[in-house]
Amino acid sequence: MTIFTRAEFEAAAAAVKKQTKQEPRIGLVLGSGLGDLADSVENADIIPYRQISHWPISTVVGHQGQLHIGQLEGQLVIVMRGRCHYYEGYPISQITLPIRVMQLMGVEIVILTNAAGGIDPSFSAGDLMLITDHMNLIGMGGTNPLIGPNDDSLGPRFPDMSRVYDRDLRALAVEVARAEGISLQKGVYAGLAGPSFETPADVRFLRAIGANAVGMSTVPEAIVARHGGMRVLGFSGISNVAIDDPDSDRETTHEEVLEAGKVIVPRLTAILRGLLRRLDSPS
Ligand code: HPA
Repeated sequence: MTIFTRAEFEAAAAAVKKQTKQEPRIGLVLGSGLGDLADSVENADIIPYRQISHWPISTVVGHQGQLHIGQLEGQLVIVMRGRCHYYEGYPISQITLPIRVMQLMGVEIVILTNAAGGIDPSFSAGDLMLITDHMNLIGMGGTNPLIGPNDDSLGPRFPDMSRVYDRDLRALAVEVARAEGISLQKGVYAGLAGPSFETPADVRFLRAIGANAVGMSTVPEAIVARHGGMRVLGFSGISNVAIDDPDSDRETTHEEVLEAGKVIVPRLTAILRGLLRRLDSPS
């Protein structure tokens, strides 16, 4: 098992710092089909992932592979246009290296976004869901980015996960959605490894254990961000309704995931802009 160390995280952070003078306070990870939000960043220093040592490069369509560091609603942000997933074959501690880079750059708040399948029967494709909590299903199977010797300079050996998604930031997100007239679902995100989509039996299992949405990202990043003492907020764009009946004629495809992203981006952008406006200016 490959385990990345602080020295490797520092090398990657140094490669980023070499290309920007801006010191972002807020990190934003854009999921499948949501990358166009990065175009909203002003005065952006754009850094291709391949120029950053150890940075995992996504091979997935819809994940472009650039950092945009600049301003959004007066806040300095570092935006990941595309992310890498565990199913692409990288070690889990490399999948979360970008979050460590944010930590070492002084980022205080990480906003994670993803495309997810709707498990809750009341959800429709195109809905936006505020993540209230997650289920670390791949972690329960032994795949946790914190496995290996703990570096106490990065975070504690046994980090608390009782409130991964920051309560104040969630309340702010709800307030912004209301003010903008955007309907916002709330729920628990179940994180699986993928890349195969769920069987109908998987979907019924996930519903029975209390999941509202399912996807293949976010959970490892949220864990590392909390380990590193950063505040976390998460949104799922419900790209498709997960199929719970083996006799259904429907199928789940990556194309529909990307298509749904297009209708979700404007609402997600409005919520993020509203949030950033309401956050205190950097001290
Ligand atoms: N399942 C898992 N991951 C996903 C889905 C899904 O239905 N949709 C988008 N990401």
